[in-house]
Amino acid sequence: METLDLSGYRHIVFFTGAGMSAESGVPTYRGKGGTRGSYSIGEYACQEAFERVPEKVLGFHEKRRRFVLDCEPHEGHRVIAGMADAAVVTQNIDGMHQRAGSRNVIELHGSLWRLRCDACGFRKEDYGGTYETLQCGCGAWLRPGITWFGDVLDASVMNRAAEVISSCDLFVGIGTSGVVWPAAGFPAFAHESGAYCIEINPEPSGAASYDRVIEGTAGEVLPQLFGGR
Ligand code: APR
Repeated sequence: METLDLSGYRHIVFFTGAGMSAESGVPTYRGKGGTRGSYSIGEYACQEAFERVPEKVLGFHEKRRRFVLDCEPHEGHRVIAGMADAAVVTQNIDGMHQRAGSRNVIELHGSLWRLRCDACGFRKEDYGGTYETLQCGCGAWLRPGITWFGDVLDASVMNRAAEVISSCDLFVGIGTSGVVWPAAGFPAFAHESGAYCIEINPEPSGAASYDRVIEGTAGEVLPQLFGGR
């Protein structure tokens, strides 16, 4: 595969989904090997479950954290991190882009490494296998800073994503099935904003907005397409 000539592009956005981390060992939700259905969202990953039994939900997320800590970013993450001026808009909560060195990362669905208190508004970065603390100074349980099913996305995060996407001229969608909204609308938004849109996916999403679809994995394609930078 030829290396992409980037001389005509000034603002690049990498839009990533679960497939971006698949070669790091973090399973996707959908597609081949997807884990959707392997655990009960109603029991472990929604606001109602948290309100019912917070310890159980926090314990489940601690397990996810330990699993992710055993995984490492791959070459594809590093290629993206090497393009320091590019923005990353990700649906992933695993922090793998940051571990590879990316600094401009917009996390649409929050992060496994963040806690917040819905009672008093306290927020906390919390990195590690176990949570440093499960309760806020105000006495309430801290809640994983993740967008669960049924949650509304953080408006300020959405605005930042909309801003970088509307002004990009190259949009690279990687490893997303394109079925979860509002992120699913981003390729069309980028296309309408005038960006050249590329999809990288071994099982392409079928989204009509991509100008070029590369059937392959993130770890294989990214070093070839953007290699040597
Ligand atoms: N490289 C690139 N893409 C891959 C790879 C790989 N190595 N392996 C799998 N894929 C692709 C699959 O073909 C599929 O299209 O990654 C995609 C994964 O799709 P999903 O699991 O649906 O991931 P995503 O689109 O990020 O899901 C969106 O749904 O439940 C949620 O909140 C969760 O953020 C997540 C959201």
